[in-house]
Amino acid sequence: MKKLKEFEPQKHLLKFDSMDELQQEFLEIYNSVNGENINSFKEKLTVLLAHSKKHFAHEEALMDEFGYLTHKEHKDEHNKVLAEMQYFLNLAQSSFGQRMLKAYYLEKLPLWFDLHLISMDSDLVHFLNTKVKVS
Ligand SMILES: [Fe+2]
Repeated sequence: MKKLKEFEPQKHLLKFDSMDELQQEFLEIYNSVNGENINSFKEKLTVLLAHSKKHFAHEEALMDEFGYLTHKEHKDEHNKVLAEMQYFLNLAQSSFGQRMLKAYYLEKLPLWFDLHLISMDSDLVHFLNTKVKVS
């Protein structure tokens, strides 16, 4: 089956190993959804939420350790998407809510992934690479 969202090295590889690994794991979980089964979207979003909490905590620890100046904006973006995922999970108690969650999963989450990676994460990596030589 065709993947919902391919990992595109040109676009998605930031060249900072620990973060690249987390981004790839995110897409592996994302792509493992069974599109035929409405419950699968809720299950995978639950896993993505837990994974994203770990992922963001890792980035935020790096921001704090190396004194990243725009940490507040970046952390706000993290908190916003975590709240959004939780919102759709809470909504998915009804069949209407499940359809909303599915639409969010298919339409908005991949756009968020690209935008966040291209803007916030790539800026963070650029900064980190000026501070640390190992990745
Ligand atoms: Fe981030």
